[in-house]
Amino acid sequence: MLDEAIRKDFPLLDRVVHDGKKIVYLDNAATSQKPRQVLDALNEYYEQHNANVHRGVHVLAEEATALYEGARDKVAAFINAPSRDEVIFTKNASESLNLVANMLGWADEPYRVDSDTEIVITEMEHHSNIVPWQLLSQRTGAKLKWFGLTDDGRLDLSNIDEIITEKTKIVSFVLVSNILGTVNPVEAIVRRAQQVGALVLIDASQAAPHMPVDVQALQADFVAFTGHKMCGPTGIGVLWGRQELLEDLPPFLGGGEMIETVSMHSSTYAPAPHKFEAGTPPIAQAIGLGAAVDYLSAIGMDKIHAHEQAITEYAVRRLLEVPDLRIIGPATAEERGAAISFTLGDIHPHDVGQVLDEQGIAVRVGHHCARPVCLRYGIPATTRASFYLYSTPAEVDALVEGLEHVRNFFG
Ligand code: ALA
Repeated sequence: MLDEAIRKDFPLLDRVVHDGKKIVYLDNAATSQKPRQVLDALNEYYEQHNANVHRGVHVLAEEATALYEGARDKVAAFINAPSRDEVIFTKNASESLNLVANMLGWADEPYRVDSDTEIVITEMEHHSNIVPWQLLSQRTGAKLKWFGLTDDGRLDLSNIDEIITEKTKIVSFVLVSNILGTVNPVEAIVRRAQQVGALVLIDASQAAPHMPVDVQALQADFVAFTGHKMCGPTGIGVLWGRQELLEDLPPFLGGGEMIETVSMHSSTYAPAPHKFEAGTPPIAQAIGLGAAVDYLSAIGMDKIHAHEQAITEYAVRRLLEVPDLRIIGPATAEERGAAISFTLGDIHPHDVGQVLDEQGIAVRVGHHCARPVCLRYGIPATTRASFYLYSTPAEVDALVEGLEHVRNFFG
C-alpha cells in the first residue's frame, strides 16, 4: 500500500466535521480531493500569469499560453497519446461524450449517424453516456441498442454479434462503472466493433484516475475523462480522439479560437484540437489538471492501482461481514474498481448516508447518475463507498463500524 504520508498533501483530509469528527472521505467516485501541489499551481497561475491564451503578444499572454499548452503535453503523455493535437480540453467528461455524439450527428459519410444506422451503449452507463445518444437517436432516427447486465454486475456479451452489427456506427461504453465498479472487457468489444467498421468511444472517467490508461493499447477511436476525479480542479475534461478522425469530423461549438478565417458568409476552421475548443478555454483548470497529472505520475499509476486494489479487496471482505449487506456489482476484488455500491437490508440508502454523515463518513447515496442500473436490479438506490490513493484500511474499518451504528439505529 502507499505510504499514508501522502495524506499530508491533501489539506481537506484534516477537516473536522460534526463536533470533532475527522472526515472519512469515501466519495471519491463523485470527486477526488486535491493535493496542495494542484492548489498551488492554480494560485500561482492566477497570481503570476493570468491572461487569455493564443491571443496576446504580451508576456503574460505568452506565459499563460505556454502553461495551457504545456498542460496538453502533460495529459498527452499521461495517456500515451501519439500526438498532443489529439487532446481536446472540454469542461467535463459529459461534454466530451456530447461532443462526439454531435460530431457524428453533423458528419458526412462515412461517419454520419442517420436512420439507417445504429448506436450501441450498455445498461451500466452513466447518464452522460446515455442521454447524448438518446438525443442523437431522436434527432437522426438511428436505432439505440445496448448490452444488458448479468446478475453479478457484468456486461452480458453473449449476444455481441446481434448487438454490434454492420449497421453500427459507434459503440460507446464505460471502462469502469461508477456504480457497479465493474471493469469492462475492452478487447472483446473493440474487436467486434472493428470487424464491422464501427467507431469506439470509451468513457474512462472512473479509470484514468485509478489505473494506467494507454489510449493506444485500448485501440479505441475516442477516450473521454474528467479532471476533477483525478486530483484536478472541476471544469476541465478531456476528449482524446484519433488524429485523422479529428481532422475529418466537423466542429460542434462555434466561436473564437476554433476558426482560421471568418467572413459574413462562411468560415474556415483551425486544425484540431483548436477546432473543438471554441471560446476562452478553461485555462486555469487545464493547468491544474497538468499539475494533477504530474502529481499522480510522480507516485506512479501502477502503484496507485495496486494500493486501491488492496483497499478494495479489504473493503469487499469487511463489508461482506456486515449482516444484510448486499453488494450491487462484482462481490470480489478482482476485475473491479474502487467504487462499491451496496444495500443494507431494507434501510433506505438516504438514511444510511445520513447516519454515516453524522459520524463524519462521507459516502454517496442515490442512483449515482446511472438509474437504469438500479432499475435492472430492482432497487431504488444504493449506498456507494469509493476509495482513492489516500484511502486507508482504518477508513474501511470506520465505514464498517458506521454501518453497525446504522443497523442499531434502525433496529
Ligand atoms: N459521476 C459522478 C458519480 O458517479 C458524479 O458520483
